[in-house]
Amino acid sequence: MTSRRLSRGLRGAVLVGASVAAGAWLWLPRADQESITGGDPGAAVYVEHSGEALVPLPPAPLQSPEKVALGKSLFQDVRLSRDNTLSCAGCHDLATFGHDARRFSLGVGGKKGNVNAPSVFNSGLSFVQFWDGRAASLEEQVAGPLHNPVEMASDWENAVRKLEADDAFRSAFQHTYPNGITPENVADAIATFERSLLTEDAPFDRYLRGDQRAIDARAKEGYRRFRDFGCASCHQGANIGGNMFQRFGIMMDYFKDREPEIPFAKADLGRFNVTGREEDRYVFKVPSLRNVAETAPYFHDGSVARLEAAVAIMGRYQLGRELSTSEIDLLVSFLKTLTGKRPAGLDG
Ligand code: HEC
Ligand code: HEC
Repeated sequence: MTSRRLSRGLRGAVLVGASVAAGAWLWLPRADQESITGGDPGAAVYVEHSGEALVPLPPAPLQSPEKVALGKSLFQDVRLSRDNTLSCAGCHDLATFGHDARRFSLGVGGKKGNVNAPSVFNSGLSFVQFWDGRAASLEEQVAGPLHNPVEMASDWENAVRKLEADDAFRSAFQHTYPNGITPENVADAIATFERSLLTEDAPFDRYLRGDQRAIDARAKEGYRRFRDFGCASCHQGANIGGNMFQRFGIMMDYFKDREPEIPFAKADLGRFNVTGREEDRYVFKVPSLRNVAETAPYFHDGSVARLEAAVAIMGRYQLGRELSTSEIDLLVSFLKTLTGKRPAGLDG
């Protein structure tokens, strides 16, 4: 990854590369992206930035349209599952907001998962993938659902063999990847497609870019509280989340208080399951709040159906604050302005 300084008065270094591990990213006009990358479609551009906690969504990275199209086909292809019944899109619905509306997803044969499915929209902006961060990149993530017995229950050999038998896929791969259909190339195409799934033009982004009328007075008040109460110390950056790990239940024990009909599950240990370190018990990736009004139910355990209730829980367990109904309503007014447009090119 190369790092260059940007003129034009923007603070911070410009990083050119596939991903950046930390830091918030400032929106950069496409013309600037092109001048920095020399039009290289493989290079994404982010500006590291350390001022405002929340920054607008960057434009979709410049990427090969062939890879995006191939990745989109793969994402919607049921042959990635063992019994040809389930595609990635089966749980990450591209017609809605990139998730399913269930508490836990259903995998092949109706097997039930153990955490709530996050949206794939804007996931390319998060520093790691999965609630517990066990995949370092979107490329690495793909193998997870493919092998997971309660998701697609397949393996690379099975998936590649079925794709090889399809003339259209064989020729599309030959055209795009010199070494044809391999697990790495399947993962690369899917990850490339996912990186294109940005929900642009949210009212809040227009507001951050200077359009005072893009959000109403209540949402502005909600944003002020979001900062003043300290929500933005965890949900921040271009993805309003997705750039750090935090414990769920900092001020009080969330799991002890959770409804008794929800038994404690291994997934509740969060990042502890990845590192085995005591300090990572109950630690999760702070989720992105983009489109959050459209992606109920909430939390890794999918236990909360209403956004108002999720916000109240955040106040109590993360900030030690009992939020009043009117404070919750203002915060929710603000959160609704984070709903962007569904990515272009998905209908058809
Ligand atoms: C059976 C439903 C199901 C299928 C099929 C499925 N997923 Fe998922 N996906 C989930 C669940 C549940 C999670 C959360 C798992 C976790 O965090 O442990 C997830 C997480 C993800 C994430 C991480 C998002 C984040 O914010 O951390 C990405 C990206 C993703 N899936 C992409 C895919 C791709 C690509 C495929 C196809 C190869 C796929 N999924 C197939 C249910 C599914
Ligand atoms: C100390 C860090 C921290 C603070 C402060 C914080 N959050 Fe969170 N937030 C998290 C974590 C971690 C999760 C994921 C919890 C889980 O499901 O395991 C989360 C989840 C959420 C969710 C659910 C998202 C989803 O898709 O399931 C919402 C909504 C939310 N936070 C809003 C807020 C609001 C509003 C505030 C301020 C009142 C706030 N948060 C303060 C760390 C924080």
